[in-house]
Amino acid sequence: MNRVRILGIESSCDETAAAVVEGGSRILASIVSSQIATHARYGGVVPELASREHLRAIVPVVRLALEQSSTRLEDLAAIAVTQGPGLVGSLLVGITYAKALALTHDLPLIAVNHIEGHIHAVLSQNEVELPALALVVSGGHTHLYEVREAFVYRLLGKTRDDAAGEAFDKVAKLLGFGYPGGPVIDALAPHGDPVAVRFTLAKMKGNPLDFSFSGLKTAVLRWVEARDLSAEISARRALLAQNPQPSVEQWLSVTPTATCGLLASFQRTVIEELLRRAAASAEQIGARSLIISGGVACNSGLRIAASKSRLPYPVFFPEPGLSTDNAAMIAAAAFPKFTRGEFAGATLRADANLALA
Ligand code: KG4
Ligand code: ZN
Repeated sequence: MNRVRILGIESSCDETAAAVVEGGSRILASIVSSQIATHARYGGVVPELASREHLRAIVPVVRLALEQSSTRLEDLAAIAVTQGPGLVGSLLVGITYAKALALTHDLPLIAVNHIEGHIHAVLSQNEVELPALALVVSGGHTHLYEVREAFVYRLLGKTRDDAAGEAFDKVAKLLGFGYPGGPVIDALAPHGDPVAVRFTLAKMKGNPLDFSFSGLKTAVLRWVEARDLSAEISARRALLAQNPQPSVEQWLSVTPTATCGLLASFQRTVIEELLRRAAASAEQIGARSLIISGGVACNSGLRIAASKSRLPYPVFFPEPGLSTDNAAMIAAAAFPKFTRGEFAGATLRADANLALA
């Protein structure tokens, strides 16, 4: 089992990715082709363009992953692919290619839930004591799961509206910072006063472990509308048009202190919402570990806040490169399914709303 090599394929959103993982945890190659440049000018992912880009990238990305890991298709034990959740057209590209490879090389096919992939980005690389509480926080999800032995999951809470990453992206777009918003806000937040703007925390009726970010997003909009920020927003758009990846200094030259304070306060509030509910859920299930995964897990403010929060259990974040979408996490999540013989048939279909639990 230690030598089992699985090729993972991920195409659920705007990254075309392929990876070869050995024994469920050794990443021999992980290739990610990002479409950010394609979608940036539209301020978000355009599904039709995403499918087209996946079609263009899938063959070279898989080939490169095999090449870099010195793996021939006949060395593989299985092919794993993201079944969902995600954009249906994007998922279809990965699934169709994975099926074709599996069929022509007589390899078993393994269907993986993208969210389970994000959890395995941490589980496969660390000794995580179970039960664990997993906070999966990305552009599409803000979900809290209990993770038990044998990879059994239970959903404890989720966002009722926007995902946390989506809130980062929308706030950035509103202020002229382009897409994706998380990395820019993360980089500028340390330059602002995190208590400059006092946002109220969301109070949830019903399940107190659910999240809501739409109120916070509206509060940011009101703050912006109450001031005339048109000059600075235009300056940032002009900067982006000139340079798709401005440096922090360049951003700061077109971002006054008050706006940095808004960003810092927004980020602090999101982090507080995330950690508060994660800690409450962890306590509820008697968690021995906390896993924070998904694109927003890259956020340095979140990592610092988690490390300072003095929780009675260790907190695990994915290694760099395993936080945002990648295929190594898909191949890793497929390994336990391989050992259990849980294979998908040729009838495997994309499921845009596939639930984990
Ligand atoms: O996991 P991911 O690559 O794709 C989805 O499954 O959605 O996550 C992408 C999301 C985007 O919303 C992006 O703005 C956010 O993760 N993100 C961040 C950071 N880096 C990426 N959010 C906050 N801080 C970051 N450093
Ligand atoms: Zn993701």
